[in-house]
Amino acid sequence: MSEQSTRTPHAEGLNRRASRLHAGVDQTGPAVTDQSKPPPEAKVIDPGIGLTMRPAGARDLDELVRLEQVCFGAEAWSWQIMAGEITGPDRAYWVIESDQGGLVGAAGLSLGKDFAEVMTVEVDPVAQGRGLGRVLMDQLMEKAKQAGLTRVLLEVASNNAAAIGLYQSMGFTAIGRRQGYYQPSGQDALVMQLQLSP
Ligand SMILES: CC(C)(COP(=O)(O)OP(=O)(O)OC[C@H]1O[C@@H](n2cnc3c(N)ncnc32)[C@H](O)[C@@H]1OP(=O)(O)O)[C@@H](O)C(=O)NCCC(=O)NCCS
Repeated sequence: MSEQSTRTPHAEGLNRRASRLHAGVDQTGPAVTDQSKPPPEAKVIDPGIGLTMRPAGARDLDELVRLEQVCFGAEAWSWQIMAGEITGPDRAYWVIESDQGGLVGAAGLSLGKDFAEVMTVEVDPVAQGRGLGRVLMDQLMEKAKQAGLTRVLLEVASNNAAAIGLYQSMGFTAIGRRQGYYQPSGQDALVMQLQLSP
């Protein structure tokens, strides 16, 4: 398979789990600055369970990497990759934080000229099945609309029933398949698309 066939639809995007495509990432990671105050965009999801959704910041990196590991195992992004993602100029990353400390979910979007691309959505296994994945995806779709984009693409492992179920329930439809896309698992990816109403 050619490397080209493993790339995302976003020309400058990165293969969701194929870390070999990140060989050029500076191993020292980008310079990141932290946020000392909660941003105005922060949303309390449910005061009863103490969860707040807000834009990701540098202070979240260690927790984001932990989430990656519990959600994706061998295909988890490294600290350096995640640092590059949350500080990228065309990226929008959100996290769900527990009042008890720590993150229970995260999701990120790449904002292109013609379409947005979901880079990741992940909910800690201990918090899955409670609607948080949908809350994160809704936030990303809102962000895409705010950026004036109506087409959203994503890739998902063809055996990931939970994620495919989530995306289908939001109206995403499969438009293609990339064989052996994910590394190191070799799993195929489905390419899915959603047309948002403006
Ligand atoms: C995919 C993931 C983000 C879903 O998050 P979640 O918080 O558990 O999902 P939600 O509770 O918001 O469920 C939303 C919808 O997803 C679908 N869904 C969730 N779990 C499902 C499952 N096990 N099987 C089929 N559909 C499922 C359902 O349509 C559900 O809606 P419903 O509850 O009204 O039926 C979560 O399973 C996860 O983090 N998985 C590991 C990381 C991952 O694979 N991310 C996707 C990368 S492409």
